[in-house]
Order: sequence, then structure tokens, then C-alpha cells
Amino acid sequence: MIGAIAPVRWTGERLVLLDQTLLPGREVEREYTRWEDVAEAIRALVVRGAPAIGVAAAFGVALAARQSTATSGEALLADLETAIKGLAATRPTAVNLFWAVERMRAIAAGLTRRPVAEARARLVAEAEAILAEDLAANRALGDHGAALVPSNARILTHCNAGALATAGYGTALGIVRSAHAQGKVALLWVDETRPVMQGSRLTAWECVREGIPHRLIADVVAASVMARGQVDLVVTGADRIAANGDTANKIGTYALAVLAKHHGVPFYVAAPFSTIDPAIASGTEIVIEERDAAEVRHVGGQLTAPEESPVYNPAFDVTPAALIAAIVTDRGVYRPPYRF
Ligand code: MRU
Repeated sequence: MIGAIAPVRWTGERLVLLDQTLLPGREVEREYTRWEDVAEAIRALVVRGAPAIGVAAAFGVALAARQSTATSGEALLADLETAIKGLAATRPTAVNLFWAVERMRAIAAGLTRRPVAEARARLVAEAEAILAEDLAANRALGDHGAALVPSNARILTHCNAGALATAGYGTALGIVRSAHAQGKVALLWVDETRPVMQGSRLTAWECVREGIPHRLIADVVAASVMARGQVDLVVTGADRIAANGDTANKIGTYALAVLAKHHGVPFYVAAPFSTIDPAIASGTEIVIEERDAAEVRHVGGQLTAPEESPVYNPAFDVTPAALIAAIVTDRGVYRPPYRF
């Protein structure tokens, strides 16, 4: 039996990340002892997916506490502020990153009068708790979401919101996993997800490992399979959900939601409660990350456009709440109008 997928794990001394830039070709784990290297790993997509980024950043803060030579709680907190700022500057869209480092800061701020060794140990324990809670949240939302899946379902998903994108199990793919365990999944359509190919490289890899019946499609095929009545529901993950339900997720998600509405296919979003950002009233306030032009100009390292061609490469888009049939969280299924 193949072991569970663990994209982020803690050895007691080091953070270990499964390098997602090398999948599906190679399974390589990398070890981290410095927060600066964790920040670079987040930026370079060694670890990616909103909840997994949050967990990795929490361990980044714990590593910063171990790196610090501070001898007082106040000085430790000052060192951690530098690390928190550096980690938070890596990727702007997924709220889980900010949520996790704020949670770590609050722990350190509450321990400034305690011995530094105690604060270091508590910070590691907090990061471990964030990891364990995310895993539990995914299993819970997977079960809530599976109840929405009819028998013999043909599901379509985008990007990777699987075990690799979380502490394990997954959000959108967690629902598919739970529904598959109940024998309800006839087929999962996997969008390849240009330009970084998280669907073909990562979601398809998880499906192959776990025997989930799936079929890979180029992103442009989604409209045709919906028009032919071959999709019963769409489910995607989320990077940030505004108070009104507007949802930022991987670029291309909005187009899928429009298609789903046109074809009368329910479009569901799956996320742990930590992905909801109550400070943001609507999706217009969500900062959308723009990534390097090379991701669009190249496919598999091969130049596929003139180097001179200007590129626009937003990593995410915002799906208006009006297109979302329900948002599935670990606390249950929310329907419009969204009040979390
Ligand atoms: O750029 P990525 O790969 O980090 O984008 C990931 C996504 O958009 C996921 O759908 C989202 O983070 C949810 S992961 C459970």
C-alpha cells in the first residue's frame, strides 16, 4: 500500500518539503533549517496550494525562532517580525499564509516574559497544530462535500487542491476522495491548468496513485464536455474567500464557473475555514499575484513564443459569489447569500 502524500512534514529538527516542481517525474524531498530558504521554496512553488503554504510558513516562523540568538522574549519577537515579513512577502493572494504567520506571531507575543527556550518549543508545537488541524479540516470538508456528489458522478476540477496543496487529503480533491471511497465517482475530468500545469502534473499524479478514475483534458476542452452533458458538477479549491463569497482561485476558475452556469452544472468551492478572509468585503479587494513571463513563454523549458512578446501572467482570478452554488468548509456547506 502506498503511504499518504505528505507535502509538508516536521522531523523534530527540520522541515521537509516534497519538491512539487519536480512532480510527476521525480519524488524528491528537501530539508529546511532556515526560514529564508522556506520563503524561497514558497516563492519557487516547491510548496504551493493555499493551506500548504500556510503550514510551511508557520514552520518557517518556528525555524526562525530556532535560528535566533536572542536571549529575551522581546528580542526573539523582534527577530520573528523580520522572518514573518519575509515569509508574508512571498505570495500575495492565498490568505492562509497571512493567517498562519499571524497565529505564530500571537504565540510569540504572548510569551515575551517567558524563557526563550519555552517560546521556541511552543512555536514548533503551534506549527504542528496548524498542520494537524488542516488535515482534520480537509477530512471533515471532504465528508460534507461528498454528500453533494450524486452516484455515478462525473466531476470536473481545476489546478491541484489535493493532498499536495494542503497538510494532506485535499479540499476539492478531498471531496473527490471521500466520494470515491463511497463508490460515487464515475470520472474526474482533470484540467491541465496552464501555465504551471498543476492539474496534469499534480492532480493527475494523485489520481494515478490512488486509483481515482480520471481523464486529463486541455483547459480549452471543458466547454465541450459540459456542452455534451458529460459533467455533473465542478469543484475547485480557493486561495481567498471574501466575506460576500467572492472567491480567488487558480487562473481559469472564473471561466469554468461561467461555463458551468451556462450549462446548468453546479459549481462548488471547497476550502478550510481559514481561507475565508472576513476583512475583505468583496473579491475586488483581493490582490492577484502576477508571475514571471517565462511561465507563459515556455512549455517544459522549451520556448513557445518569441522572447520579445510581452506577457500578462496573473496566477489567480476571482469568481463572483453569484456563480458559486455552495462553499464547502470543515464547518459545513454554505449556500448563497453567504454569511460565514
Ligand atoms: O499557484 P498555486 O499552485 O499555489 O495555486 C493553487 C490553487 O489555486 C489552489 O486551487 C488553491 O490554493 C487551493 S489548494 C487547497
